Amino acid sequence: MRKKFIAGNWKMNTRSIDGELLASAIVKGLGSDTRVDVAVCPPFPFLSRIGQVVRGTPVGLGAQNCYLKDDGAFTGEVSPAMLVDVGCQWVIVGHSERRQFFGESDKLINQKVHAALKAKLRVILCIGETLDERNGNRMKPVLNTQLAGSLADISSEQLKSMVVAYEPVWAIGTGVNATPQQAQEAHVFVRERVGQLCGESAAQSLVIQYGGSVKPDNAAVLLSQPDVDGALVGGASLKADDFLAIVRAGIQ
Ligand code: PGA
Repeated sequence: MRKKFIAGNWKMNTRSIDGELLASAIVKGLGSDTRVDVAVCPPFPFLSRIGQVVRGTPVGLGAQNCYLKDDGAFTGEVSPAMLVDVGCQWVIVGHSERRQFFGESDKLINQKVHAALKAKLRVILCIGETLDERNGNRMKPVLNTQLAGSLADISSEQLKSMVVAYEPVWAIGTGVNATPQQAQEAHVFVRERVGQLCGESAAQSLVIQYGGSVKPDNAAVLLSQPDVDGALVGGASLKADDFLAIVRAGIQ
């Protein structure tokens, strides 16, 4: 049985004080409950501070991006080793906003995945099709290309330190979530392809999150789908009550 995993992607939101209050409220609300895995992914400047808030609690800490080298002349970049240094266990790689606004390719994303895993970070790898791609009946080929590219040379052993987040771009921040059936169909396809790429048994254990307008009122039905193993939550992760309600929806 795969354990549900709910992660909050704060994106470029919060200031240090409200980030700290948000993380504290999540820690308090969750208590010692470990029936669902939970992580928060604040912006880089607050990782250290939020790391202190969540340390010793069931709430994990993740970053939203990383570079592929450990050190060097890469102005403005942050390395996986630095993320580990400030207490991260997780890093999101290949979010559609990175692909869309910063031109990240599957090749670069694959290099980042390898670098993050080498540094002993666990990776949330994001994939997902745009509305045009879905309407043009290209969802599966697009997911296929993204998976084959970003999982190149990833072994079944390495896959154990990974989560895949299926995030249809048309559902992100739009208030239009995928229907439970659409999510389930995509997740089954992702699991099948990952099985071909990295091995069947590793794919069966792989946690596949859904992301895109997950809210307290749609979380339970999405999370009740057999292949929806969690959620990557953007907007609703910025309110402790909403995020905690989504976490509770994962306890089934
Ligand atoms: P959303 O974002 O929940 O605000 O749609 C999800 C994400 O981009 O990870």
